[in-house]
Amino acid sequence: MEYKLRKAEPRDVSDILRLVKELAKYEEMEEQVMVTEQDLLEDGFGDTPFYHCFVAEIQGGENHSEDPKAVVGFVMYYFTYDPWVGKQLYLEEFYVMGEYRGLGIGTDFLRHLSDLAMKTRCTGMMFVVAENNQPSVQYYKRRGAEDLSQEEGWRLFRFDKSSLAKMGTPVEE
Ligand code: ACO
Repeated sequence: MEYKLRKAEPRDVSDILRLVKELAKYEEMEEQVMVTEQDLLEDGFGDTPFYHCFVAEIQGGENHSEDPKAVVGFVMYYFTYDPWVGKQLYLEEFYVMGEYRGLGIGTDFLRHLSDLAMKTRCTGMMFVVAENNQPSVQYYKRRGAEDLSQEEGWRLFRFDKSSLAKMGTPVEE
């Protein structure tokens, strides 16, 4: 099956949201997806993009009369900064639809991100994987990823919106 990876464009936001929801469903957290197509459009394609995406698009053959090109996978990433070692690529989302797995699309995405990290002189690529997503834990480990929670004891934290509102200084009108 032929596919190509390409940079996401504004017209892709509905496919990106569809795949974000599919990944969340796979992780059994679908109800936590609050983001809208409009958010994705403004946040990824405005003057200051907060994320970047690449999509995998199936190239339809002659028999593909209805939907000749379909987006079947994506990676979402951004750049972060570690004051000890410098620039880092942060892999936020990585997903290929079930029927298109095992074709090498994921490997191509990682190859692309590795090239990008090298070109931009990043010192590493960080990501979080749910403990119960063992197929992915093993997928990353087979490619040499280190499990920092296990090896260095880091724990993941978040202040949610209400905690931030409580801590923040009220804005004077
Ligand atoms: N289904 C699943 N895995 C398969 C299949 C299949 N039908 N066939 C083969 N595999 C194995 C292969 O052996 C290969 O492993 P190996 O190369 O280490 O031996 C691997 O799974 C598939 O390799 P690729 O074809 O390069 O990758 P793929 O296009 O299948 O994408 C991905 C990999 C994105 C992890 C995909 O399996 C997926 O979407 N999984 C579910 C969602 C998920 O867990 N995403 C990662 C969350 S963590 C995060 O986002 C940071």
